[in-house]
Amino acid sequence: MANPCLQAYQMSTSFDLVPALDNLLVQTASTLDEFTDLFEPQTRSADERFGDFQANGVLPFAKRMGKNPRELAQKLIDALPGSDNWTVELAGPGFINFTLSPEFLLKWIGEHGPAENLKSAAQTAEHSKVVVDYSSPNTAKQMHVGHIRSTIIGESIARILAFQGHEIIRDNHLGDWGTQFGILLLAIKEEAVSLDNLGDDPIARLEDLYRQGNARIKEDEAALAQARQELVKLQDGDPGNLQLWEKIRDISMSSFLNIYELLDVRFDHALGESFYRDKVDDVYHGLTRHHICQEDDGALVVFHPEHKRFAKQPFIIRKSDGASNYATTDLATLSYRQKEWQAEQIIYVTDGRQRDHFEQLFLTAGKWFEAEEKTLPKLDHVWFGTILGDDNKAIKTRDGKPVKLIDLLEEAIKRAAEMVRQKNADLPQEEVKRRAEIIGLGAVKYADLSQDRTLDYVFSWEKMLAMQGNTAPYLQYAVARIHSIFRKMNRQPTDSFANARPPESDPERKLSRKLLFFPLALKQATRELKPHFLCTYLYELATEFSSFYNQEKVMVDEEEARELRLLLCASTQSVLLTGLGLLGIETLEEM
Ligand code: ARG
Repeated sequence: MANPCLQAYQMSTSFDLVPALDNLLVQTASTLDEFTDLFEPQTRSADERFGDFQANGVLPFAKRMGKNPRELAQKLIDALPGSDNWTVELAGPGFINFTLSPEFLLKWIGEHGPAENLKSAAQTAEHSKVVVDYSSPNTAKQMHVGHIRSTIIGESIARILAFQGHEIIRDNHLGDWGTQFGILLLAIKEEAVSLDNLGDDPIARLEDLYRQGNARIKEDEAALAQARQELVKLQDGDPGNLQLWEKIRDISMSSFLNIYELLDVRFDHALGESFYRDKVDDVYHGLTRHHICQEDDGALVVFHPEHKRFAKQPFIIRKSDGASNYATTDLATLSYRQKEWQAEQIIYVTDGRQRDHFEQLFLTAGKWFEAEEKTLPKLDHVWFGTILGDDNKAIKTRDGKPVKLIDLLEEAIKRAAEMVRQKNADLPQEEVKRRAEIIGLGAVKYADLSQDRTLDYVFSWEKMLAMQGNTAPYLQYAVARIHSIFRKMNRQPTDSFANARPPESDPERKLSRKLLFFPLALKQATRELKPHFLCTYLYELATEFSSFYNQEKVMVDEEEARELRLLLCASTQSVLLTGLGLLGIETLEEM
């Protein structure tokens, strides 16, 4: 049975139905009947006083068409086919409110509640091939706290889209071919360092060397010239430099892999910038042939005259010394993903400071693809704000250095282990560790994902590890609590609850309707590519569950009531488990 929210989504990409109504009325302009089909209940969850779903598209539509909204809404209601599943009501200036019947609620939950069936409720009408370009750190440096955002947000978006049925290609677009190598090679050679012998923390040692090199080129012109020289040699394929570069890449990769393993993140590809080094000529030729780029002081640049800022601000695709850059590589990458992978959508997850780059990239690619009569994939830049410290500035260690991501993750686990031990002093060490990883890493991930990604947020251990409020431990606790309900009753969440009666009381009803909104929350999250919508939903669901559980006894003698309440517990648990899984967060049976 279709979920009404999903049906509404399938017919319209918009929440408020306006484009769908508009289209239909304008195109057919004949009868209202034709779009009553579209009018299965709908678009957004209503304020619960007014029913379960509200169609609120009539208002703006009527206004534009110069019609009376209440009259139009009434006509629509009259034209709606009758249904046992809901009642419908005209409200306010022209809203149409649907209230689902208790039988319908029960049926939906019975069918979609079990975890394996939730997936079918979440499927979108159309599935596409989506590349998610995320994490993408620069090699030769360690991952710092800022990298967590791209990694976690990207992973969660990939999981949600896959759950909805899209085909996902996860690509880690490593920065492994940039100017940092000239500087690093300089330092390695000046210090006569052997890369096979970098001590116990090789990546940290490389980063120190890079810092030294950087200081050297600032104080000494000759060193600067040599660093440039080393880079040119590398890019020209000098075997010695290439060998060093490969070693640096391996060292970096193994340090990244440690982190990905902890975060449970896996990529299909890690085609870094270096992979495209022999593919940049096509970019120059293509853009030149179609007169999209021009020479400017020896460099090759693209202007966008139709754009306010980019009419004057150039997009440099080849530097005056002839070298390719970030922009060239991104154009080559985009072309490769479309040609080799038939990507229909590409999602780039980076810091907000790269907004201009991506805007210019998308404009340039649009013109290039059009000139070559190729289909441009849908391009989305998913950008995020900064993680702040207590002082409201970008987070730093006490001595003013960037916070290493690995240190932060380890501290999260350490703090969570203290929490676990406090609650349960005689747990074996292994189990403390297992729980601490799930709680600590979950807390860090959730703190990041639950904020609107475009905002900066202040990093706070106390807040993210709190057992109350919109936090991972609160949601994990809700899952564990439901496990314990089933344990006490000697039942399983996977049991069948065939004798459940429809929801009657207020708490039963409220929890039921909330469960139905899960696919809607996912839709909302993917529509704006913002996982925090899913977090907010899960938090509201857990809160609703808590008030249900405080008001209704589950262990009652009356079988039908007991079965319904157990069913609600089981479904809440499966939605929480599934939802948290989509955020990359694990749960525990006991906490
Ligand atoms: N390496 C870049 C950085 O650290 C991010 C790359 C993002 N992806 C891309 N296709 N440009 O900022």
